[in-house]
Amino acid sequence: MKNITVIGTGYVGLVSGAGLADFGNHVTCIDINFERITSLSQGKIPFFEPGLTEIVDRNVTAGRLQFGIEIAEAISNADVVFIAVWTPMDVDGSADLSAVEDVAKTIAENINSYTVVATKSTVPVGTGEMINQVISSTVEKDILFDVVSNPEFLREGAAVRDFLRPDRIVVGASSDQAADVMKDIYRPLYVNETPFIITDVPTAEIIKYASNAFLAVKISYINELANLCDATGADVHVVTRAMGLDGRISPKFLHPGPGFGGSCFPKDTRGLIRSARANSVEMKVVEAAADANDAQVVVVFQKLAKLAGDDLSGKRIAVLGLAFKANTDDIRESRAVALVDHLLNQKVEVAVYDPVAMPNMKKNYPDLIYCGSVKETLRDADAAVIMTDWNEFRGLDLATVGSLMKEKIIVDAKNLLSREQLASNGFAFECVGRPFRQ
Ligand SMILES: NC(=O)c1ccc[n+]([C@@H]2O[C@H](COP(=O)([O-])OP(=O)(O)OC[C@H]3O[C@@H](n4cnc5c(N)ncnc54)[C@H](O)[C@@H]3O)[C@@H](O)[C@H]2O)c1
Repeated sequence: MKNITVIGTGYVGLVSGAGLADFGNHVTCIDINFERITSLSQGKIPFFEPGLTEIVDRNVTAGRLQFGIEIAEAISNADVVFIAVWTPMDVDGSADLSAVEDVAKTIAENINSYTVVATKSTVPVGTGEMINQVISSTVEKDILFDVVSNPEFLREGAAVRDFLRPDRIVVGASSDQAADVMKDIYRPLYVNETPFIITDVPTAEIIKYASNAFLAVKISYINELANLCDATGADVHVVTRAMGLDGRISPKFLHPGPGFGGSCFPKDTRGLIRSARANSVEMKVVEAAADANDAQVVVVFQKLAKLAGDDLSGKRIAVLGLAFKANTDDIRESRAVALVDHLLNQKVEVAVYDPVAMPNMKKNYPDLIYCGSVKETLRDADAAVIMTDWNEFRGLDLATVGSLMKEKIIVDAKNLLSREQLASNGFAFECVGRPFRQ
């Protein structure tokens, strides 16, 4: 088992750090955000992620996991340094690699014996080579190192489980020695016969983008099909069930809705398109998926306008769900946020509720009406839109909902509610790809 330093303690860095400690390694997690490290040292987890508190506590108590800001010391003591910092979308759609580059420089200044530098951040193909050059240009010639790409596939909301029981581990390594070190730190998975894809660095970098973009394409495809179902009276859920029974297609990621959000799919589709362009390659399918996604939230807005009127100004619209999906407090690129922007442009009075994401939303949107419960959000609303698939929205008592609202209008953008019950309770409603015939 190895000494590991993880730089960046966001959703990926913190979960990976805790998971690697759970595998028996000694892990130090570092961040430039001093406040975050202070709270972590006091046992406070900075974001909502099911199961994370337990795994962090367990490994801190066992003495395998610690948090710090002394980056020089943490790097010089490490066998493996993971780069898990953010790589946000730049204005031109490419990944902003400035944090990755800064960290690479810091690593170069502090390694003093053979070290594996492993990138967990999602980075475009060629980044491993950039890191290699940054470190080579600074480090003493007799100090050896290897750059490895070890992309992360965890999903927010299920991140701990995904990290501990992944479908596969991808390691892009430039030497056998580095690949062996990586197998060693994931030893419990390696002996458990989790598939390991050992490859070169550029291939590993592309695997991550290829996987995310493929899933994004699947979502946009089903959303466009749902729009066709809406226009023709077909039921998209029956269509996707029949499609999913074909083993070549699989039923996963065939859920129509308001489009994909989060910190990965929107950024990584645009990032892949930019990478391809930089290499004079066209990625028309991915481009179309990204464009279709931008358009899908407008489809939801139009459904609302169809039911509640083209002039929404002054109306109170309840938005249920702000997180980009259930079981997370992450609102980055959330379609709910995009819808809120549309509503604010129309001078709508926006009342919102989300079980965990409201503190994040308040940072950028302090003036919305933040409600403590679903009922409070719906009271006197002219219409409601469901934007996140939280379980508590699935079980809404529609008789009560109807009695609270000013107008019985619901846009169910996640297809959570029963159309029959909506109809029998007198609602005017729209789902996605599920037109209702009495
Ligand atoms: N969130 C996901 O579901 C997910 C899944 C797979 C891969 N990824 C990728 O992993 C990377 C991290 O994503 P995230 O969601 O954890 O990000 P995040 O925004 O939650 O966390 C990033 C962390 O990096 C820290 N940081 C930034 N610059 C730093 C520096 N120079 N030195 C030290 N710390 C620094 C920030 O303070 C922050 O705590 C991204 O490239 C992302 O695309 C994310």
